Amino acid sequence: MTVFAAVRLAPRDPILGMTEAFNADIRPDKVNLGVGVYLDASARVPILECVRAASDRLAAELKPCSYLPIDGLPSYDRAVKELVFGPESALRERAVTVQGLGGTGALRIGAEFLRGLNPDARVLISDPSWENHLALFSRSGFQVSSYRYYKPGVGLDFAGMLDDLRAAAQSTIVVLHACCHNPTGYDLSAEQWAQVAEVVRERELVPFLDMAYQGFGAGIEADGRAVAEFSQRDVPLLVANSFSKSMSLYGERVGGLTVLGKDADEAARLASQLKVCVRTLYSNPPTHGASIAAMVLTDPGLRQLWESELSGMRDRIKLMRQALAARLQGLSRDFSFVTAQVGMFSYTGLSLEQMGELREKWAVYGLDSGRICVAAINDQNVDRVAQAIAKVL
Ligand SMILES: Cc1ncc(COP(=O)(O)O)c(C=O)c1O
Repeated sequence: MTVFAAVRLAPRDPILGMTEAFNADIRPDKVNLGVGVYLDASARVPILECVRAASDRLAAELKPCSYLPIDGLPSYDRAVKELVFGPESALRERAVTVQGLGGTGALRIGAEFLRGLNPDARVLISDPSWENHLALFSRSGFQVSSYRYYKPGVGLDFAGMLDDLRAAAQSTIVVLHACCHNPTGYDLSAEQWAQVAEVVRERELVPFLDMAYQGFGAGIEADGRAVAEFSQRDVPLLVANSFSKSMSLYGERVGGLTVLGKDADEAARLASQLKVCVRTLYSNPPTHGASIAAMVLTDPGLRQLWESELSGMRDRIKLMRQALAARLQGLSRDFSFVTAQVGMFSYTGLSLEQMGELREKWAVYGLDSGRICVAAINDQNVDRVAQAIAKVL
């Protein structure tokens, strides 16, 4: 018996399994709404013009590919910090940003750092949440449980959320979706964020904001309102951000972890520890994607282009929400919530059986939880999606 004989087969990733089933489906009018990717009106992953221009410039002035610093490309880290707090914010002086391998990598560095700091802290994630939150924080050695977030038939369960946060022990790490909640599409209002931040401050919890979709909800600044609510209250704060969606740079793995300390001295100590985490995980991050993102964020022309392309993606999602909701009007169930939800996803409220029927009978693929990716709907498939939903009701 070798040491590997005891290795058990891990369960397959549910989304990957669904994608395989979708690829194997030979029905010509199949629709994949299970993905976590923004597709354009022609059902393609877009190449943003700002990214194309930055890529071309980088190719024209190709530099030797040496190692980056442990914490990443300095111009990228600076630009991310400005994006997170705003370009003029004094908070930048007491915050540290390290480049991460996408939003996931940034969350993982944060988890690693927090675990070193307080191995007994518990982690609270929303119920439901992006499925990797549970896996990632458990894998990092934490006990993970959840706070109420969504009530079937109602939507956001804000009272339940506040009660659960109030009941949390001091130093509990609270993972919050800064905007475009995945999977439900229900976000907090500015007033609700203020209340959450107040409870977090009073109870001395540790907020960890997952901002994987900044710009996809209401705009770059508006989507950052959660960050503002916490940072105003001088609580220790972690923010994981990503350009996977907002620059359509999925495979480049471009994200960042920003940690806000009490003052510049604390920030320097935080930076040193975050570097230890990165050094022992993968030494230093890759160059290409971060160079593109840094150029797009800092070159005024490219920045303007990015913001307009980002608002184009945001507007297309909103249009598709309206188109779907309009086609679902008059059914036995009210689907007007589709336009109230924000971001790439909609929790449809359809059951496991109904989602199965959508797949089997109508070749419309969503997740078993009822989540569909609205960002994968277009003028060509919206009728089909609406008809299929009407049939399974
Ligand atoms: C809530 C949430 N956090 C983090 C991520 C990870 O993003 P990335 O692909 O940049 O690692 C995702 C991606 O789907 C997400 O939905």
